[in-house]
Amino acid sequence: MKALVLAGGTGTRLRPFSYSMPKQLIPVANKPVLEHVLENIRDLGVTETGVIVGDTEPAIRAALGDGSRFGVRITYLRQDKPRGLAHCVLLARSFLGEDDFVMYLGDNMLPEGVTDIAAAFREHRPAAHVVVHKVPDPQAFGVAELAGDGTVLGLVEKPREPRSDLALIGVYFFTPAVHEAVAAIEPSARGELEITDAIQWLVTQGATVRAGEYSGYWKDTGRAEDVLDCNRRLLAALPPRIDGDVDTFSDIAPNVVVEAGARIVRSRVEGPAVIGAGTLVEDSHIGPDTSIGRDCLVRGTRLADSIVMDGATIEHVPGLRASLIGREAAVHPTGHGESRHRLVIGDHTRVEVAP
Ligand code: G1P
Repeated sequence: MKALVLAGGTGTRLRPFSYSMPKQLIPVANKPVLEHVLENIRDLGVTETGVIVGDTEPAIRAALGDGSRFGVRITYLRQDKPRGLAHCVLLARSFLGEDDFVMYLGDNMLPEGVTDIAAAFREHRPAAHVVVHKVPDPQAFGVAELAGDGTVLGLVEKPREPRSDLALIGVYFFTPAVHEAVAAIEPSARGELEITDAIQWLVTQGATVRAGEYSGYWKDTGRAEDVLDCNRRLLAALPPRIDGDVDTFSDIAPNVVVEAGARIVRSRVEGPAVIGAGTLVEDSHIGPDTSIGRDCLVRGTRLADSIVMDGATIEHVPGLRASLIGREAAVHPTGHGESRHRLVIGDHTRVEVAP
């Protein structure tokens, strides 16, 4: 079995971050979403992995390289612009050859993994085996209607009147039967070749399509709130370890990772939290639910429920929470006695200040 990871999307809902980095590289618990994805793929025993990339190809190549760090072998496949998930399969035709494959959306997090669903696919080898999950808002997704035995009766992309609450959640297993399907369908109203339509085509042709329900935690990391939620979830599961320097005036509560080369000075770090290599935390109270990247400076600050990316500086901010701070960003007070705010911020940035 091979893998096809889709990392070409632009991520407009994650602006401003997606202006300067692919959304698939946003760090969750100090690890890019795509690394979490590749680890799940490796757990299926799959090594040959195609990664579909768009304009952000250089950043993704720089982060993943040839994949050997994650135990997989990566072939990069360039898509000129987002033309739909089924278009990605068309594009990867020669890479995929006659192998079965798992297609995985590069911004979807399924921390519990899909090894059981992969085993069911390998056992029965239906034309397609989709992964579904109960959601409160099925209108926002591809939706599957199932028979009692897990056979898919029909699928609709973003239905106005959903026939079930089972959404397709970004992981699909296919035999080579899918190649005829992606070649047969027409673009949808949004101008994309929908994988949901290709799978429905298989159902209509009488091919067997099955579904496996994933009941663990799932997030499409499309918006800042989703990324923070996912961060909380993954931090809680990190095995604690203190490899950096913690001075005797500091207090580290349970569930904290301090990476080698990080320094904690006169501070309290309340887990779950991770402090990246090369970062200095001084006279601060960090956490819970907080990830601080590499080479950051956090001084005189109270920070909780947040992600701070590599190289950022936060100084003397007494109450910061539910925040995403980008790479090399700086947050600090204005001069003494100054009661106004001074902001130098990019397009589509969100700032919430206390009145
Ligand atoms: C895509 C698929 C949809 C699926 C969703 C999962 O939607 O088209 O069927 O439910 O991913 O995240 P998109 O994110 O392109 O709107």
